[in-house]
Amino acid sequence: MFTIITGAQFGDEGKGKIVDLIAKDYDIVSRFQGGNNAGHTVRVGDVTYKLHLIPSGILLNARVLIGPGVVLNPEVLAEEITMLEKHGIEINAKKLGIDAKTSIIMPYHTEMDELREASREQKIGTTKRGVGYAYIDKVARDEIRMAELVDSKHFLTRLKELAPQKEREVAAMGGDPKIVMDPILIEKYIQFGRKFTKYITDVSREINKALDEGKCVMAEASQGTHLDVIHGTQKFVTSSSTIAGSACANLGVGPTRVDNVIAIVKAYITRVGEGPLPTELTGELGEKIQNAGCEFGTTTGRSRRCGWFDLPLMKKAIALNGYTEISLTKLDVLTGINPIRICIGYNYKGENVDYPPELTDDLLECKPIYEDLPGWENNLTAVKALEELPENARHYVKRLEELMKVSISYISVGPDRIQTFRKY
Ligand code: GDP
Ligand code: IMO
Ligand code: MG
Repeated sequence: MFTIITGAQFGDEGKGKIVDLIAKDYDIVSRFQGGNNAGHTVRVGDVTYKLHLIPSGILLNARVLIGPGVVLNPEVLAEEITMLEKHGIEINAKKLGIDAKTSIIMPYHTEMDELREASREQKIGTTKRGVGYAYIDKVARDEIRMAELVDSKHFLTRLKELAPQKEREVAAMGGDPKIVMDPILIEKYIQFGRKFTKYITDVSREINKALDEGKCVMAEASQGTHLDVIHGTQKFVTSSSTIAGSACANLGVGPTRVDNVIAIVKAYITRVGEGPLPTELTGELGEKIQNAGCEFGTTTGRSRRCGWFDLPLMKKAIALNGYTEISLTKLDVLTGINPIRICIGYNYKGENVDYPPELTDDLLECKPIYEDLPGWENNLTAVKALEELPENARHYVKRLEELMKVSISYISVGPDRIQTFRKY
């Protein structure tokens, strides 16, 4: 079985939590795009794991793979391995595989991301992790790949070949070109390379073989649908394709092998960084949701902008991903809010529309049209079944399902692994 899981909104929907929950049924969990701009949180009892690169299946028995479409910062990977080992999770070559073609985020990529963001009059609000610049080099065929990182001779040859161009680019952006050939950084990368040799694998080959043998494979996205580099709200997007089809392209698995595509959807919406968010709540209510939902970035600590559930954006996410089911997260956060609003359409230049206009500038013009539903007062965090939800919460879930026309399979009512139940 091949399952793809993607975020249906602007990221931070709770992908980490749901991937961890269902990973027990999978033999392999593989990240297919993005880098350490991602922050996937998994809470098990008192322990909170913040994963930036390693797939969220790592806490269970699944083998976890980092695909060739990911951009990998070796220092972050090393830190993550240390963090997991501190919690008693052994990371070895049986457990973790990294594709030989995975692009490496170099220190100059991070520097360039910072310099570019600082020079932008209208910011994107990137995570400044060098992700965009690593992808630029991949597409320009100027990347350094995992296979080169783990072979110091190759690594140095490649770096020297690229250095004059990279130095010119850094200098042109107002940075210090010495960062490109900094001997301390180079030595650090060589050491990381030595450490990671044992993890090298061919991810496409592994996944296809596993599927041939009848095993279960899950593809874990990072970011969210509307941050997709092609279909998102440009320019306020990330630099990779975040939608379900991207899992096939990036992992090297044919689309005919896909069995199901699961959406991770928050019961409201959040966005971190700049860009349109039609239902944004800027006042007291926005702050209330932000605090109740702990809406502060896993990677950068920035506060996330909060808004009401946005059906037009969700309809677009369903079209872009072809979802077969939905996991609804953070329902508990809406306790005590009355009424609860669902944006069912927009008024766009005087006309009512039920699907977002394609261009960001036009989306910025859209004024939400709301349907109000009664709220509930009960704390939901101990709820273990649909029937235990207060009537109005059940009604909210049912209404979302009716509007989305895709069934909700899981409902999450708290950050812990056990605070999730199957709806049917
Ligand atoms: P991801 O990037 O999609 O994996 O999501 P993040 O981990 O960045 O952000 C989701 C946050 O919400 C994390 O802090 C989770 O622990 C937390 N979370 C996940 N599901 C729930 C839920 O149902 N209720 C509450 N209150 N918190 C949740
Ligand atoms: P997870 O996987 C939420 C946002 C940044 C910025 C834009 C571009 O945890 O859901 P980038 O550094 O990628 O060039 O920044 O994308 N962004 C995310 N927002 N969750 C994420 O990942 C994100 N990764 C990037 O805030 O607006
Ligand atoms: Mg996150």
